[in-house]
Amino acid sequence: MMAQSDLYMVYHGFCLPKLAYTVESLNYFESFQVQDDDIFVITYPKSGTTWMQEILPLLLNGGDLTPVLTLQGYERAPWLEDVRAAQVVAKLSAPRAFISHMPYHLMPFTFFRSKAKVIYIIRNPKDVVVSYFYFHQMASFLHDPGTFEEFTDSFLAGNVMFGKWTDHVKSWRNPDLGDRILYITYEEMIQDLRGVMERVLCFLNRQLSEDALNRVTEQCQFKTMKQNKMSNYSLASPKLMDNSKSPFLRKGIAGDWKNHFSPELEAKFNAVICEELKGTDMTFP
Ligand code: A3P
Repeated sequence: MMAQSDLYMVYHGFCLPKLAYTVESLNYFESFQVQDDDIFVITYPKSGTTWMQEILPLLLNGGDLTPVLTLQGYERAPWLEDVRAAQVVAKLSAPRAFISHMPYHLMPFTFFRSKAKVIYIIRNPKDVVVSYFYFHQMASFLHDPGTFEEFTDSFLAGNVMFGKWTDHVKSWRNPDLGDRILYITYEEMIQDLRGVMERVLCFLNRQLSEDALNRVTEQCQFKTMKQNKMSNYSLASPKLMDNSKSPFLRKGIAGDWKNHFSPELEAKFNAVICEELKGTDMTFP
């Protein structure tokens, strides 16, 4: 699968689509000067990145909805490793919110010396693979996923953008991070979005009025984001992301894997993930 060299480049052993990542953008990322008050949202793809990208800038700006109604997600909180980052970063004011899919050990050198905080979102990998499968159908910069079973094999082998799910989640359990990192699950966000926002505020030593918190909670509901053209990727070129094949904001639920996995595939998936999580304190949902 890695041989799809027309679509992908190989970076530290995993593949990245050439359309979104270049040698220059990755150099920019590696040499980025991280500030102590920077905040990173880190995820393995399809784990709720866009959702926290919506939430975090609103929590930081006191609940002013103007940015979510006038700027696209990457302009509010850019992916630091992708080709658009350099342009956007220049326009951000502190505290800056960044998004990244990088594993821990590949973070910029200055990150490790800084006090920058991390919000790490983890999602049930079975729902991740389902979401990823549909994303591959709509994103022309990713390879044709084939059948769901075939795609699941690619996912388990790490032959997808940013490599193996287990490598990513394990890398971010590094104890060196101490209280610089807040772990959140996608499932918690589904169950109690407002409660998660309160935890994020507490982690960042910030407060928001009740009114503002209500406003942000409403704005970040799946149905509201799906209507917001600044957040639903309807402004992306259909040549790149074709929402008519599968909408980027697809279902927004926990447990859609039950509609996709046969019992055999589930058993195989569980066995591989459990084996790779052995020896960690991580439990598999
Ligand atoms: P589904 O494909 O399961 O619907 P990412 O942003 O990391 O690529 O993740 C995309 C997934 O997050 C998609 O999952 C998308 O629908 C879901 N998502 C985005 N915003 C959401 C929201 N407000 N509520 C619930 N799920 C959301």
